[in-house]
Amino acid sequence: MGQDGGVSVKDKYRVVVVGMGKRGMHHATTFKANSRFELAGICDIDQTRLNDAAAKLGVAVKGTDAAEVAKSVRPDVFCFCTLPNIRASMVRIGIESGAQLIAMEKPVALTSTEGFQVRDLLAASGVKAVVSHQHRYGTHYQKVGELVASGALGRIQTVYGTATGWMMHMLSHLVDYLRWFNGEQEAEWVIAQAAGRGKLADIHPSPDYIAGFIHFANGVHGVIECGAGAPDVPEVDYWWRKCRIGAQGVDGFAEVLTGGGWRAVTKSGACSGGGSMNYDLDMPPYIQEMADWLDRDSAVHPCNFASAYKGFEIMMSFCRSAAQGGQIALPLTTAADEIELLRRSVPDRKILLSLAASAKEYPS
Ligand SMILES: NC(=O)c1ccc[n+]([C@@H]2O[C@H](COP(=O)([O-])OP(=O)(O)OC[C@H]3O[C@@H](n4cnc5c(N)ncnc54)[C@H](O)[C@@H]3O)[C@@H](O)[C@H]2O)c1
Repeated sequence: MGQDGGVSVKDKYRVVVVGMGKRGMHHATTFKANSRFELAGICDIDQTRLNDAAAKLGVAVKGTDAAEVAKSVRPDVFCFCTLPNIRASMVRIGIESGAQLIAMEKPVALTSTEGFQVRDLLAASGVKAVVSHQHRYGTHYQKVGELVASGALGRIQTVYGTATGWMMHMLSHLVDYLRWFNGEQEAEWVIAQAAGRGKLADIHPSPDYIAGFIHFANGVHGVIECGAGAPDVPEVDYWWRKCRIGAQGVDGFAEVLTGGGWRAVTKSGACSGGGSMNYDLDMPPYIQEMADWLDRDSAVHPCNFASAYKGFEIMMSFCRSAAQGGQIALPLTTAADEIELLRRSVPDRKILLSLAASAKEYPS
């Protein structure tokens, strides 16, 4: 244990990870591989999954009840990677366990009602929190971030993001990176449209297609298309990585393709480079920066909750605008169940696709 400006710095922060699915295993193995953390406990409601994970990870405490595991371990970091239908209850368990930092998966919540609860629980407790928008650690994302910040594109006018995957999977990512490229400016209003009911029944409930505009306080507009009607990214073969996120300024543009590198045109000419989203490369720095933030309050994590929450409100506002029409002012002041609003309003018409490869995911 050391000291940093009066804050106690531990040699190792003890971690509990809840949910031993795909993302839980990514988190658990990365915490375990980092010498600043001790993976002290794991949890899953599925006993077989839990046993398999425990055999791979070799942890001291395992259980099927998150509150009991957290109570027994009293971790410094409470991480949960459950599906998006469970958020506020897990945040409450994390706070009650005495953790200093809660690490959660995107999206922040499925509705603004639950998102408000998560925000208020964290604000009242003072516990730090991060949301896993870890694509940003890709070298190709970093390159575009650096180009925009360097001023090489001149004054930014438009930021944009498209993804063929559906909203509750992908919009959280798109908004997070688009806000980053616009210097995390405040959004003032959005307007959006939605189509296709098939994915409203998914565990990541979403309209099949949602598209809209964001007006930011600095005058920049964000343009987003997410789901069945989003354009192809022909440079990328892997369907889930057909995402294009970029910024246009008065002197040029720069964009990242999640599965296909980056490119830019500036006053000095055209340039491009490689890079593809890769959990093995993106998770280690994401996890390391949690230790940095625990060590020093000033080393705020780039995926901090306060920033992710602003993106979440933009996503919920897209849903409200699509369901109720017109512009939606931000920040949101009243809670709602946006998925229920969409279930009541999205027309029961066949979704029209932008690319044949999407027919497998949007059969209706
Ligand atoms: N950041 C990213 O790049 C990324 C990528 C994929 C998924 N995700 C997000 O990660 C989250 C998890 O996705 P996944 O693909 O790992 O799902 P998954 O289905 O593989 O794993 C979820 C696990 O949580 C367990 N679980 C459910 N309820 C639980 C409870 N109450 N207590 C303990 N365990 C419980 C399930 O049994 C399952 O093992 C989702 O929110 C998803 O949107 C993020």
